Amino acid sequence: MSRIAYVNGRYLPHRRAAIHVEDRGFQFADGVYEVIGVQGGRLVDERPHLDRLARSLAALSMKAPMGERALAHVMRETVRRNRVRSGILYLQITRGVAARDHAFPADAEPSLVMMARAVSGPAPGLVEKGCAVITVPDIRWKRCDIKTVSLLANVLAKQQAKEAGAFEALQVDEDGLITEGATANAWIISQDGVLVTRPADHAILDGVTRRAVIALAARAELAFEERAFSVDEAKAAAEAFLTGTTAYVMPITRIDGSPIGSGVPGPFSLRLLADYTAHAAAGGDRR
Ligand code: PDD
Repeated sequence: MSRIAYVNGRYLPHRRAAIHVEDRGFQFADGVYEVIGVQGGRLVDERPHLDRLARSLAALSMKAPMGERALAHVMRETVRRNRVRSGILYLQITRGVAARDHAFPADAEPSLVMMARAVSGPAPGLVEKGCAVITVPDIRWKRCDIKTVSLLANVLAKQQAKEAGAFEALQVDEDGLITEGATANAWIISQDGVLVTRPADHAILDGVTRRAVIALAARAELAFEERAFSVDEAKAAAEAFLTGTTAYVMPITRIDGSPIGSGVPGPFSLRLLADYTAHAAAGGDRR
């Protein structure tokens, strides 16, 4: 089936979907994005994704290209036209097209692009086996809470992971504390059974999956602490995992070659994976 992309008001065949050379997303990475899961043809956790998009736009003083209801309509239409049952919707908004000048243009209209494609979550078998991760210095800017398309440090970190035969790179701040993965949030379960993840400060993206897992952990009455943790603490943890729209809940079994716990996905991670899978299958938070 031919793929369709939405570009500034038109649904176009993928090969003809293009943006202008002077789009500020292309020239300055002056744009924000969302990746939203699709399950059973429906968007997962649509509400918190739209809320985060609004926060990203506001943080960059960027105009929304249309109202939220219209945006949600285009999101669903893009999924429908691509006949995606299980996959992702990608949405990007930039500050628009203008003659190159760093300061904001006076009158540019924001650009809006969407794509949808079928993917079926992490590679089969990976979740059951768990994944290896490496650690890398976090060289990003100080507003990682904004979901901008400026992802070069994340790209370099993920490539380093790939070259090391690992699934993900955990980024480490100047205090030796883990911020997050290149594409997912990081969690540990301490030896005394406490679930730990970093607070959603400016050093990480406040993942929609992260928030869902916090709610699921509360429902399961798991002990939970929101605090930063070091690489050493993660290596000594009973369990560790990643969360994200594309990673789901992905058990980590090795950090820089050191086995975590018994070296296989642990019971808490697998319980949260099962709970999250059910949450996503039911559409998540749609309010
Ligand atoms: N990445 N941290 C970073 C740096 C991310 O890029 C992502 C998501 C997350 C998890 O956020 P969420 O649970 O809302 O997906 C955390 C998306 C999937 C991406 O860039 O492809």
